[in-house]
Amino acid sequence: RNQPAEPEPPAGTLEALRAEAAVCTRCPLHAYATQTVFGEGPRDARVMFVGEQPGDQEDISGRPFVGPAGMLLDQVLLEAGIDRSTLYVTNAVKHFKYEPRGKRRIHQKPNMGEVKLCRWWLDREMSLIKPKLIVAMGATALAALTDVKERLQDVRGRAMAIEGGRTLFVTVHPSYLLRIPDERLKAEELARFRDDLLKIQRLIV
Ligand code: URA
Repeated sequence: RNQPAEPEPPAGTLEALRAEAAVCTRCPLHAYATQTVFGEGPRDARVMFVGEQPGDQEDISGRPFVGPAGMLLDQVLLEAGIDRSTLYVTNAVKHFKYEPRGKRRIHQKPNMGEVKLCRWWLDREMSLIKPKLIVAMGATALAALTDVKERLQDVRGRAMAIEGGRTLFVTVHPSYLLRIPDERLKAEELARFRDDLLKIQRLIV
């Protein structure tokens, strides 16, 4: 039996953008991923967090930052007194890029071509949401958000002006923290990440 067609969301809305992105074929990644993982959060969010790309669990659920990296982000946001439900959370690249290895799908870093093509969506998200503050988590988000070739460690932990009159705050990606094998170094880096989120919290209020 035919289902009645879903009414199309009004043009120019976040819902319309999400619907367009769901059928995106701008780069080859769409052919392998389960679905587009679009950004999520209030239309009037003042702060936008940008990660790299969805991981395995995000690809399956269709929502950003719900896997291990997302759980760490949630925990540190809570510690820093930032309410995730007030944030718009998205990624530089909206399809999961991976290499199959047995039953597992191993995350692969998106290349600059894929990042540039997917900027189409990030730009539209920024134009619609108009966040006061954009937080880049990790080098891929930084590369997607600035044309200047800054090294993450040189710009990390402070707010800077970027094109379009926007303010960008750069920090590390939570996945980086999860990968640090040395416990002491991991604790130190986690504390620095918490400090960064506390700085962001103070920028918001
Ligand atoms: N890593 C990211 O960069 N984004 C996600 O949504 C999940 C993990």
